[in-house]
Amino acid sequence: MATPILVTGGTGTLGRHVVPLLRAAGHPVRVLSRRGGRTGDGVTHVTADLLTDADLVPAIRGVDTVLHLAGGAKGDDRAAGNLVRAARRAGVTHLVHVSVVGADRVPLAWMRSKLDAERAVVDSGLPWTVLRAAQFHDLVLTMLATMARLPVVPVPGGLRLQPVDAGEVAARLVELALGAPAGLTPDLAGPGTHGVDELLTGYLTATGRRRPRVPVRIPGRAGRAYREGANLARPGATVGVRTWDDFLARRAQRAGARRGDGARRN
Ligand SMILES: NC(=O)c1ccc[n+]([C@@H]2O[C@H](COP(=O)([O-])OP(=O)(O)OC[C@H]3O[C@@H](n4cnc5c(N)ncnc54)[C@H](OP(=O)(O)O)[C@@H]3O)[C@@H](O)[C@H]2O)c1
Repeated sequence: MATPILVTGGTGTLGRHVVPLLRAAGHPVRVLSRRGGRTGDGVTHVTADLLTDADLVPAIRGVDTVLHLAGGAKGDDRAAGNLVRAARRAGVTHLVHVSVVGADRVPLAWMRSKLDAERAVVDSGLPWTVLRAAQFHDLVLTMLATMARLPVVPVPGGLRLQPVDAGEVAARLVELALGAPAGLTPDLAGPGTHGVDELLTGYLTATGRRRPRVPVRIPGRAGRAYREGANLARPGATVGVRTWDDFLARRAQRAGARRGDGARRN
């Protein structure tokens, strides 16, 4: 039986795309997460907390390639450090890590922790590959839905996003994981660059709502960095195919089908 590939965070938004692609390529998969999942069809689950578990080696042992996708609101730098230490002891030969476009340029605590997570991988002494991806469609949708719950929506001026399909990010990660260690690879972003105001308009139209808006300015250095586009993909980036409009139209269609009456909420 072939050596399994370890996917940390294999139960998350991105991981749920990655795991079946690895299976389709013929690789057994071991998924690491805190809550675990259903084992079967070539996929096994191990439960571990990358932030708190004292010994992660047993979860990694017997694996050559690790795709590190697990992430959260806080502590991704520490999680990566813990994973790297265990991966070294377990003899991993390729560590693939997903990060965020702009991690090296946007001065926010969360972005700094993503950059420090990258550094843990780069300085690990293990053969490594890092892919920085833009915001997934799913995340942008969640962000807009949260904003649209407010009676008056604050819209940060100058903030632009390049939403990308999580399935396309997964496909690229699998390609990288199955190839030779590649170091820092070109950013991966969606095909369009959209202002948040524009994204909100599309979301409100698709969900049949209206909301008054109030422009706000993101303060400080982070605000300036966003207005200067520090969160956007660098020249030479890989550009995804699926557009935000296509994603949104399909989601609206599905939501309409679930409601079954085409009714719209206000
Ligand atoms: N979402 C985006 O737009 C975006 C864009 C670029 C890069 N990324 C990066 O891509 C990665 C995956 O994002 P995602 O949207 O798929 O995240 P997600 O849906 O929140 O999934 C996170 C995954 O990580 C696991 N996890 C979280 N904390 C863990 C811990 N301490 N120990 C072990 N497992 C843990 C979760 O499972 P349990 O909760 O069961 O532990 C889950 O499987 C993250 O590193 C994220 O920063 C995301």
